[in-house]
Amino acid sequence: MTTRRVNARIPGLFKHSVEERGRLVAESASLSDRARAFFARGGGIDVSSADSMSENVVATFGLPFSVATNFIVNQRDYLVPMAVEEPSVVAAASNAARMVRESGGFFAECDASIMTAQVQLDDVPDARSASALIEARRQELFSVGDRSIPKMVDRGFGCRDLAVRVLSEEHGVLVVDLFVDVGDAMGANCVDTVAEAVAPIVQSIVGGRIGLRILSNLPLRRRVRAVCRVDDSAIGGPEVADGIARASRFAELDVFRAVTHNKGFMNGVDAAAVALGQDWRSIEAGAHAFCAIDGRYKPLSTWKRVEHGLEGRCDFPLAVGSVGGSTTANDAVRTAFELVKVESARELAGVLACVGLASNLAALRALASEGIQKGHMKLHHRKVEAAAQRSREEVRSEPPRARAPQPEELTSNGAARTVTQ
Ligand code: MEV
Repeated sequence: MTTRRVNARIPGLFKHSVEERGRLVAESASLSDRARAFFARGGGIDVSSADSMSENVVATFGLPFSVATNFIVNQRDYLVPMAVEEPSVVAAASNAARMVRESGGFFAECDASIMTAQVQLDDVPDARSASALIEARRQELFSVGDRSIPKMVDRGFGCRDLAVRVLSEEHGVLVVDLFVDVGDAMGANCVDTVAEAVAPIVQSIVGGRIGLRILSNLPLRRRVRAVCRVDDSAIGGPEVADGIARASRFAELDVFRAVTHNKGFMNGVDAAAVALGQDWRSIEAGAHAFCAIDGRYKPLSTWKRVEHGLEGRCDFPLAVGSVGGSTTANDAVRTAFELVKVESARELAGVLACVGLASNLAALRALASEGIQKGHMKLHHRKVEAAAQRSREEVRSEPPRARAPQPEELTSNGAARTVTQ
């Protein structure tokens, strides 16, 4: 269990060198020696870990490991690890989190971790009466399902409910959705196991041919909800707040805008999910399917004017795990978990939803005021200036140790190999 002592406010973190940032973050989150060593060696994973994760591995592929600051969720401070290649995403999330922090922080809640195991049957002779027959044997199906996942059941989780849906009477196609509480796991393996275990019993009850036995990536009973308030004074005044509310309404009215709005929201969710070793493809699939579930694609979040401020809300299905193989698969993910310090999958889902709201707020704020490009360029100039400042300081503080590289000491792309005397 990680010690829960975090200060998510690290003003001016961007001004420091990568090494100093690692030290500051490690201090703020009381990280272990292992995590500090991970930062000190520049992060990454070794090729043998990579080889054990995938197939035909020939090398590793890197991404920046960044830390978003300023998050308060349910009155707790969080430093959020983010792995993303797109500039501004981390700065934007941290900046919006600071504004929300000034107004009390984010609040989030998540349903129990109910995943859906699907069993497909075709050519069922009497699909219409199948539902009642299966319902009558639900306890038996739960027992068979639970027996296939004994460790989960030992921890107090397992099969909870089922539903039968006839998809085509003509072809006798029906699906049994089994709802399984997977606790702190993401749960994909677990529900796949349940689906395979119960399928022969279902077939013995109603006949037909067994089709697919697999989880659904639309976990409608595993939704996360988050809310935050930002005061006009924190967001840049009532005109900016009005602009954000109008931008939100635009997304509610127009599918083309809703998709981009959601992309900005998912910038934050995905970046944190990647750093935390989560299955971001399943997160994306579920979130977007949910947006279109009523037949018209909607924004994942909305922003409304409230007295002297704005209120942002989101509500969507989110399957993430705080235990299990992927959470310890490599040093990067272990470090990410040490940083974020969540004690359950539900807490993790809440944090990710708030990072989504923060990313979305930052994007809408920029779009509703100065436009997105100015912020990008300001950030870019700030980074260049900070780098120049660092190198000026290094030159001032270090005795002259290095001589200029000779032409034969340059690599093929012109970068100098390290030359010390
Ligand atoms: C860019 O990655 C995300 C934005 O397009 C989101 C938005 O338009 O709301 C800026």
